[in-house]
Formats: sequence, structure tokens, C-alpha cells
Amino acid sequence: MRRLILATLLFSAGLANAVEAVSAAAPVEVPDTMAERVKPCVACHGLEDKVGRDAYYPRIAGKPKGYLFNQLRSFRDGLRYYQPMTLLLANMTDQYLLEMAAYFSGLKQPFPPPERMAASSAQIKLARQLINQGDPARQIPACIQCHGNELMGTAPFIPGLLGLPRIYMIAQFGAWRNGGLIRGQTADCMSEIAKQLTTEETNAVAAWLAAQPIPENSGPAGTLPVEMARRCGSIVQSATVQ
Ligand code: HEC
Ligand code: HEC
Repeated sequence: MRRLILATLLFSAGLANAVEAVSAAAPVEVPDTMAERVKPCVACHGLEDKVGRDAYYPRIAGKPKGYLFNQLRSFRDGLRYYQPMTLLLANMTDQYLLEMAAYFSGLKQPFPPPERMAASSAQIKLARQLINQGDPARQIPACIQCHGNELMGTAPFIPGLLGLPRIYMIAQFGAWRNGGLIRGQTADCMSEIAKQLTTEETNAVAAWLAAQPIPENSGPAGTLPVEMARRCGSIVQSATVQ
């Protein structure tokens, strides 16, 4: 039954190959490992970001565990909206979501090369300003305050901003801003910031970020400044990550 639902899901997402992979595996005894169990996920979340017919599929390997867990919970509970994932996660427990989050977080995958800079010099200046200084007049903190000086995230709840495709970031900002059907339903530190940024600002920031190389030997920052942890209280408290 479960396989049938999965097959229907994947098929409706136009992923005939994945369906073949799933059903071909059905009659054979397969070991019950996490790698086996997450095969349906990998059909969409493979090694690379990709654009599907209905959505943009982000890579999830190597992202912070607490961040992934929070996203999985939000999809399951309807706070972030993408129907195929909501259906897939519907009956999964927090504990199971946490195990999947830990599995994907632990996968090491090389980052894609940087995109070509799709910003004018005025936009580059605007992006750098917001990223490194924020806008105190509007009480927007610098992005680096939470996402780390190297923009590689802060463990375990805050994702890195390098290695993400420009159009994925623009889509996420749109989701936070547009009345919150997708990501903005809950008031949290990031959705508040995203709602304050103009389209011009989000375009500039996304273009600049997507064009940055990944610094060598870099990784997530270890601690969030106290003031920022306070601002992001709902996110930090919403997950229990061992
Ligand atoms: C039919 C394709 C599909 C399947 C199957 C699927 N996902 Fe997704 N997933 C998506 C799309 C599309 C998004 C982005 C939605 C958005 O923009 O909000 C996403 C987003 C995510 C995110 C958030 C990523 C981020 O960086 O914010 C996580 C985590 C995730 N999926 C994990 C999983 C796991 C685990 C499974 C298996 C149980 C799974 N997905 C199955 C398509 C899929
Ligand atoms: C007060 C802390 C804070 C600041 C400042 C902040 N962010 Fe975030 N950001 C977060 C958190 C927390 C998340 C994860 C949200 C969630 O769990 O859904 C996030 C998520 C994101 C994501 C989604 C990444 C993904 O993989 O889907 C993007 C893009 C982003 N932030 C961009 C920015 C930019 C650009 C700035 C500066 C203008 C900024 N952030 C400033 C806390 C912050």
C-alpha cells in the first residue's frame, strides 16, 4: 500500500524513473537501512539541485540536522507547503523525522561551482551591505550574525547561504513574503526579516550569494550570538535535537 502511494506520488511528479526504481526493488528482500528507506526522497533530492515540472528540488545533504528536522516537521504539519512531501511525511513520528534529518545531515557531498554573477555593481554593493551590516534603521541584523561570518550556517538550526541556487533563494523569499502560504505562517526571525526586504534587495542578495565560491576548510559556526538566539527563540525551541 505504501509503495503504491509512493509510486502514485512520484509518478504525479513526473518521475517515471524513480517509480521504476521503487517498484523494481519491491519483490526483492532489501536490507532495512536508512539508505534504503530514503530512496523515495533521493528520487527528488539527488546529488544536485534540480528543477522539476512542479517545483524546484533543493539538495538536502550536509545541511544542519536541526534545520532539516524543523523543515520536515513543518512540511508534515502544514507550516511549509509542498503537497507530495506533506503526504509522504503524514504518518511519520518526530523521532523518525529526526533520524532522517541526521542521516541527510551526515552525508558529505561536494558543492556545485558558483553561478555567474547576475548582479550590477550597484546591486553587489547593496547585497554586501545587507549581508555584512544589515540595516539598523529597519532593525534588520546583518545576515552574517545568524548565518555565520563565512555564511556557512550556524549549527544546528541555521542553514548556510553559500552553494544555494539563486532561483531557489528567490523562491524562498517569495514564499515568506506572499502572505505566508508556504514558509511564512509562523512568525520567526527569518520570516520577519524576509518580509521586510524589498524585491530589489532579495534579488541582489540572492545573485551575490549564488556567485560566491565555498571557502576552503569552512563549516558552520558553532554558536549563535545571544541576541540572535533570542530573536530566533521559536526555531531554537521548536526542536529537540540531541
Ligand atoms: C516529489 C518530490 C519530492 C519527494 C519524493 C521528497 N521531496 Fe523533499 N522537497 C521537495 C521540494 C520540491 C522541496 C522544496 C519545497 C519548497 O520550496 O518549499 C523539498 C524540500 C525538502 C526539504 C527542505 C530543504 C531546505 O533546504 O529547506 C527537506 C529537508 C526535504 N525536502 C526532505 C525530504 C525527505 C527526507 C524526503 C523523503 C521522506 C523528501 N524530501 C521527499 C520535493 C520532494
Ligand atoms: C536573526 C537570525 C537571522 C538573520 C539575521 C538572518 N537569517 Fe536567514 N535564516 C535564519 C533561520 C533561523 C533560518 C531557518 C528558517 C527555518 O527554519 O525555516 C534562515 C533561513 C534562511 C534561508 C533559507 C535557506 C534554505 O536552505 O532554504 C535563506 C535564503 C536566508 N535565511 C537568507 C538570509 C539573508 C539573505 C539574510 C540577511 C538579509 C538573513 N537570512 C538573515 C535566521 C536568520
